[in-house]
Amino acid sequence: MSSLARAIQDYSLLSDEECDQRIQAAKATLGDSCVVLGHHYQRNEVFKHADVSGDSLKLSNYAANSSAKYIVFCGVHFMAEVSDILSRPDQVTILPDLAAGCSMADMANRKNVERSWKELNSVINADEQVTPVTYINSAADLKAFCGEHEGIVCTSSNAQQVLDWCFEKREKILFFPDEHLGRNTGYRMGIPLEDMVVWDFNQPLGGSTKAQIQNAKMILWKGFCSVHQMFQAEQIDDFKKQHPETIVIAHPEANFGVCEKADFVGSTEMILKTVRDAKPNTRWLVATELNLVNRLNEEVKDQGKHVHFMSPTVAMCSTMFRTDPQHLAWVLENLVDGNVVNSIEVNQDDKLMAKKALNSMLSI
Ligand code: 13P
Ligand code: SF4
Repeated sequence: MSSLARAIQDYSLLSDEECDQRIQAAKATLGDSCVVLGHHYQRNEVFKHADVSGDSLKLSNYAANSSAKYIVFCGVHFMAEVSDILSRPDQVTILPDLAAGCSMADMANRKNVERSWKELNSVINADEQVTPVTYINSAADLKAFCGEHEGIVCTSSNAQQVLDWCFEKREKILFFPDEHLGRNTGYRMGIPLEDMVVWDFNQPLGGSTKAQIQNAKMILWKGFCSVHQMFQAEQIDDFKKQHPETIVIAHPEANFGVCEKADFVGSTEMILKTVRDAKPNTRWLVATELNLVNRLNEEVKDQGKHVHFMSPTVAMCSTMFRTDPQHLAWVLENLVDGNVVNSIEVNQDDKLMAKKALNSMLSI
């Protein structure tokens, strides 16, 4: 390692075009030792440099099997943590901007989940009756909590299979941190809404009665994605007044009303594939992040496909947006110099247990 790492301040005034050239040059020098992963919500200026793009599951799988020494993750913090957990000990995961978090992931933390588990145990035998499931959008110590309690992780693309796995083991599920993914998935599997309760960790017993908890099959943590909150069922009705032929596709983080009205519900990767594979001259209304929707529209417009963003107001993921070409150039040029900046390292205890919960998911 060279003695002095380059400073991010020296990059902040570079134009995107200068960064482009420097990113390309650094990647060429690093060759196979480095892979750049890009989530579908990344802005174009960053996304174009990704060697591999995908949803959370695809990128997790890639990180688990990559041979590159350095994994530069253009995504958010929990994704880089998963990459660190699943990759080999000699591999290094880098998050170009450490401030790229996920507001939904922050809605559950280990302290609140531990306290909630204890409260559940005062009403039912949670240790025997409940499987904890964490959406991959969560901190590593919550994945570790699931590993410690025979629980599991899920993503937006495998939630149904994961819930099936859980119900084969135990009768109830505590699902965190996204209330909507839990409800949308459970309902599509045939679990009636009356068999689900919302757990508001700010209230005693999550705001439910003992009888409600005893009768519930799914206990849904009261958390949400602020980006997907922007989509509302009325927006579908309004749009269809103008274009009745529209096909609606939504990410399962959108609320129940939107997902019930949607023709398709699925992960970012599934949304892309569905629209790409669709017949020409079709019209799509999409409930997910704006960068993905705009890029998809550009990609398929020559086939006569029209792809529209569902919300009348802009809904971008501000934390995904933190990763810019300046930060990407900075981490890559440091790697060329032999300096690792912004590595993500999950502590060994959490790593072990989080890996157990992640491996349960990957084995399904
Ligand atoms: P995907 O796994 O579907 O890409 O979703 C990740 C995410 O954060 C959606 O908000
Ligand atoms: Fe988190 Fe929502 Fe951003 Fe996805 S879109 S990373 S859930 S804040």
